[in-house]
Amino acid sequence: MSDFIRVAKVADIPDPGKQTVEVEDAVLVLFHVGGRFYCLDDVCTHDGGPLGEGRLHDHAIACPRHGAKFDVRTGRPLTMPAIVPTRAHEVRVDGEEVSVRINEA
Ligand code: FES
Repeated sequence: MSDFIRVAKVADIPDPGKQTVEVEDAVLVLFHVGGRFYCLDDVCTHDGGPLGEGRLHDHAIACPRHGAKFDVRTGRPLTMPAIVPTRAHEVRVDGEEVSVRINEA
């Protein structure tokens, strides 16, 4: 299991907001919603769209390509055309530091 890696400071990302981060060769999206942080792969499971460029509304991120929505808390697809979850990663907030542990699954 990989370790937590610092990726941002709490103040770096408005609430609500998002930021693309690179961790161990993976491009991820960090979301700040309702005082909590979440992290998903920057990849839509429909056709690889960049979720970090999508529109965030409450806990849903919409893919900028064809509009599939995913729950930022779990990576679960909420609307077509995506039917497969995108990978969600564990996030830890320690003071001002936001860290992510890559989900190897
Ligand atoms: S690539 Fe994301 S909805 Fe098609």
